[in-house]
Amino acid sequence: MKEAIFRGTDMVKNYGETTVLQGISMELYRGDFTVIMGSSGSGKSTLLYMFSGMDRLSRGQILYSEKFPSGKRLSHTRRSFDEMMDITNASEKELTNLRAEAFGFVFQHTHLVSSLTLEENIRMAGLICGSMSEKEIQDKTNLLICQMRLEKAKNRLPVQVSGGEAQRAAVARAVITNPNILFADEPTGALNKANTEEVLNLLTTLHAEGLSILLVTHDREAALRGNRILYLEDGIIVGELELSPYQRKDLERERKLASWLEGFHW
Ligand SMILES: Nc1ncnc2c1ncn2[C@@H]1O[C@H](COP(=O)(O)OP(=O)(O)OP(=O)(O)O)[C@@H](O)[C@H]1O
Ligand SMILES: [Mg+2]
Repeated sequence: MKEAIFRGTDMVKNYGETTVLQGISMELYRGDFTVIMGSSGSGKSTLLYMFSGMDRLSRGQILYSEKFPSGKRLSHTRRSFDEMMDITNASEKELTNLRAEAFGFVFQHTHLVSSLTLEENIRMAGLICGSMSEKEIQDKTNLLICQMRLEKAKNRLPVQVSGGEAQRAAVARAVITNPNILFADEPTGALNKANTEEVLNLLTTLHAEGLSILLVTHDREAALRGNRILYLEDGIIVGELELSPYQRKDLERERKLASWLEGFHW
């Protein structure tokens, strides 16, 4: 049985007169690598902002389960272990804490702090979350630098490294807190083919290690890494495809995705 991390019910988002999400009900499951595809303007980023507490629904509800696979407990809450939290009614402070401690974020542009080295950027996310000791932060930083192959670039500023190195540092920064879920909005949108492949390999590895991921992408290669693909059209989920967890490049898998996407004239 899949366990929900998020349960969204009748999610509506309006920007002024425009309805961007038209009453979506869906769950995100623990351990899944969920991908959202759809044409530009269909509401993909908006949906990600709603789940991740970066913005609020106009109507509907999102429940969030705090249970961490690692058994970690958040420092700032005293909720019982099995209770789901209604993030629709959470205070700004609660949402800020969740984003810092329980969720990881990667975007098309890295948003690294330009005056800090890659290593300092990664460590800072550990400091901000407030629940990691200095030693935990340094140990995890060292581990991630190794995993992301950033040994050579770690002491350089973001402007002094390649796009791929910067994005790998952004992924490291996003996962240093052992988040409950990683939200990634077009993380490979600004990368060339080789760097895209590297970042996708990282996401695949993190997923295989147990990390839940929600990825928004236009890129088929990126979508292939997921095990559950959703298609969004004008603020409604119009299709869902289940795939086995990604293991290697696989023609059969590519055909399956391609023929599913054809149904949406992709
Ligand atoms: N803050 C805002 N104010 C007004 N309209 C907005 C706002 N943010 C998004 N929109 C509109 O909502 C719609 C959905 O936007 P969203 O960014 O979710 O699309 P998307 O599917 O992520 O597109 P893309 O693939 O281009 O990133 C678009 O028509 C967009 O113009
Ligand atoms: Mg978008």
